[in-house]
Amino acid sequence: MFSIVVLISGGGSNLRALLEAAADADYAARIVAVGADNDAPGLEHAEAFGVPTFTVVPTAFADRATWGDELLAQVQSWSPDLVVCAGFMRILPPRFVAALSPNLINTHPALLPAFPGAHAVRDALAAGISETGVTVHIIDEGVDTGPVLLQRAVPVLPEDTEHDLHERIKIVERGLLVEAVAGIAHQGITLGSRASTA
Ligand code: GAR
Repeated sequence: MFSIVVLISGGGSNLRALLEAAADADYAARIVAVGADNDAPGLEHAEAFGVPTFTVVPTAFADRATWGDELLAQVQSWSPDLVVCAGFMRILPPRFVAALSPNLINTHPALLPAFPGAHAVRDALAAGISETGVTVHIIDEGVDTGPVLLQRAVPVLPEDTEHDLHERIKIVERGLLVEAVAGIAHQGITLGSRASTA
């Protein structure tokens, strides 16, 4: 069975969507563990589904590289076919990315390459555009620069606050992430030479 480790930092609604999808025997992937960089509320979703969790807090390490090495060790202990960053709000150190990419994906609340970074929804609103969206992409050594796997547009409404727009994006995002992971598990999306077989 195609196995996934999911990394989160916050509420974990995208994680929840993956857990719900994976509870269906017809879904091609299973979540074997969920990791976080803090005591994230979203870890409760993993616990509710009986999925093991781990937390690797950056402040417990001398530097980012050492933190990344421990995070990598924890992830690799599950031997996942794919690692999914679903609202993981840390830039991953180069050794982590080199060890896992291209079997390392992220979901981002904008139509990359537009609005990379930690404030994509705020930046899209500030730009005054009429459409933004969500991107699922492979993580490479840059920040939100890796190859795009799937994208879906979301309209920006005149009265939108950052919160409203992000919530509407997340409704689309949850479906897109579930679809992207299923696609990868079925080999419908080519991740390159290191793609695992289901
Ligand atoms: C998602 O919208 C995700 O794209 C975003 O955080 C949210 C997490 O929501 N990630 C980033 O902005 C990364 N740059 P969730 O915790 O409810 O899944």
